Amino acid sequence: MTTTARTARPYVGTALNRVEGMEKVTGRARYAFEHSPDDLAYAVPVQATIARGEIRAMDVQKAHTVPGVIAVIWHGNAPRLAPADNAELAVLQSARVAYRGQYVAVVVAENLEAAREAARSLSVEYAGEPHDTELRADHPRLYRPDQVNGGYPTDSEHGDPDAALEAAPILVDATYSTPAEHNNPMEPHATVARWDAGGLTLYDSTQGASSVRATLAALFTMPPQNVRVIAPHVGGGFGSKGLPLAPVVLAALAAKHVTRPVKLAVSRQQMFAVTGYRTPTIQRVRLGANPDGRLTAIAHEAIEQCSTIQEFAEQTTTPTRIMYAAPNRRTTHRVVKLDVPTPSWMRAPGETPGMFALESAMDELAIACGIDPVELRVRNEPDADPESGLPFSSRNLVACLREGARRFGWADRDPTPGARIEGRTLVGSGVAASTYPVYRSPSQATARLEPDGRYTVRTAATDIGTGARTVLTQIAADALRTSPDRVRVEIGDSALPPAVLAGGSMGTASWGTAVVRACEALLAELDRRGGDVPADGVEAGADTAGEVRAEERFSRHAFGAQFAEVGVDVDTGEARVLRLLGVFAAGRIINPKTARSQLIGGMTMGLSMALFEESVMDREFGDYLNRDLAQYHVASCADVRDIEAAWIEEDDPHLNPMGSKGIGEIGIVGTAAAIANAVHHATGIRVRDLPIRLDKLLR
Ligand code: MOS
Repeated sequence: MTTTARTARPYVGTALNRVEGMEKVTGRARYAFEHSPDDLAYAVPVQATIARGEIRAMDVQKAHTVPGVIAVIWHGNAPRLAPADNAELAVLQSARVAYRGQYVAVVVAENLEAAREAARSLSVEYAGEPHDTELRADHPRLYRPDQVNGGYPTDSEHGDPDAALEAAPILVDATYSTPAEHNNPMEPHATVARWDAGGLTLYDSTQGASSVRATLAALFTMPPQNVRVIAPHVGGGFGSKGLPLAPVVLAALAAKHVTRPVKLAVSRQQMFAVTGYRTPTIQRVRLGANPDGRLTAIAHEAIEQCSTIQEFAEQTTTPTRIMYAAPNRRTTHRVVKLDVPTPSWMRAPGETPGMFALESAMDELAIACGIDPVELRVRNEPDADPESGLPFSSRNLVACLREGARRFGWADRDPTPGARIEGRTLVGSGVAASTYPVYRSPSQATARLEPDGRYTVRTAATDIGTGARTVLTQIAADALRTSPDRVRVEIGDSALPPAVLAGGSMGTASWGTAVVRACEALLAELDRRGGDVPADGVEAGADTAGEVRAEERFSRHAFGAQFAEVGVDVDTGEARVLRLLGVFAAGRIINPKTARSQLIGGMTMGLSMALFEESVMDREFGDYLNRDLAQYHVASCADVRDIEAAWIEEDDPHLNPMGSKGIGEIGIVGTAAAIANAVHHATGIRVRDLPIRLDKLLR
């Protein structure tokens, strides 16, 4: 439904440098923690040391003897909050403890050191109860949620998968598991909260200023206009800053209690309890196929966890609904509520663990059928969305597989596992598909011609390091038929026209549509005025709610193919990724430089998932025991030897005025499967539970 004429777009498609690059490298770009209003006090939260139970008493006396302490706030004296949709936000509102690490108090002091010392000296008396923090496939309290994250149906069923699996000449039946993983953006969560007569101002490290404003206003029973959320620069989020969570509420509540501005930084250690994480999963995948590799049945059943206070049911098996043709199909999700922190979004929630399982199973099927894994996927390409029946707006998985195979040198591959040894290193290669849905949400923007002939474009978008500000500048320049240096894009402030959060890989599509429409409205207004521009400029605005709602019905998804080459040390079992190549089909690429950065960033996170990332549950104490980057391993530069992202030209008129699909998340999807498949090719060992630690590769 593109109504925009396809005129030349000279700046969309070019590698414009980040427009705020100079500000960032010179340190002038200020992040939430770097704001220090006058009369500032420091807050340090205190976390529960039991996994389930009740706070009996809080001895605040010793904490108050620390010089500089202003207040110790706990449920006995905390300001009351309005009931929240998300129980994680009801900070210090009750004596109940739902998980170890939950915030039970906050100390506010004149300086950070005093606040930390007092927080450590706080003595909390608990009535502990036995806890259950272990996800098991046979857990008696597994249940079927009403829907899963993203609003998808919990289950799907077509044909007769049981009969088809029973009758299938070739059957793969395997269980895969992925561990809990924690987001670790470079900038941990931080908030500076200030109350004044006008209401609440927050400098917050968030992916969505407009949604933080709406949520905090409701919690403190204020009109949204009385809350202002400022977030011009954010040092990564990956989903953990997508929803306002306990820390920002705690900062606002503490500032209200002490009637002074308060600064609260979540420490790296605290992030492992209070800012969400990727649920662990246990997934059974069954693939039935004919000897020629054509699928007759797909069944993908996922088990995952959430907390006792807030349901979060991840959409693990939804990508399986659109990937491959097969007449008989089933996808399900079951969840168990445990005494654990509430899981949340982590880069491509659902697709990432789900596609590890499906794409590992496809590799197992290729071997069972004796068919090349690229060819197997090509053979199962559907004509239309296999479950909804909708046409795809565009689908270029096959082109990605073919182009990737060509660039990677796949044709020369001997499929025999363990056949290639170089010195003491077994070398293998693997492939996997990736996919991510195309979303778009209503957003608003304004465009203004300034008296000096330059333009200002405003929308409450967020740049979490992706290059959002830069691509919006390119989009606006083209829509205004001017050059980027004449356009100033203002984002990262809830006082700007409301916009959807930076999440779901939908930021550019959503904000970009609003920016294009606002610029078009401005040009129309200028036309109408016939060059008669008032001294203070001309402004026009747009709201895309109607346009987004009126979208034609298509199955919209980005696709990709990931190729990995690994080396496994014969003696130590250490696996190294020697080469990673991702080829993607994601509509029009707006900026090749920032797009490459997004895609290889996602692929690196997928490498990290494959080999390193694992939050280990301590059953006795009931929490995740690795709580820093020394114990929770993420890929470092030395782990990434050779990584390249490429894309194919894709012209899809059913998306948005830019013709773009999101690229923030697809890079991580499928990477871990490609690496696990390569490890199997190298060693003959199939690792079905991530991460691929060396002990799993030693016979
Ligand atoms: Mo992303 S997990 O949608 O921020």
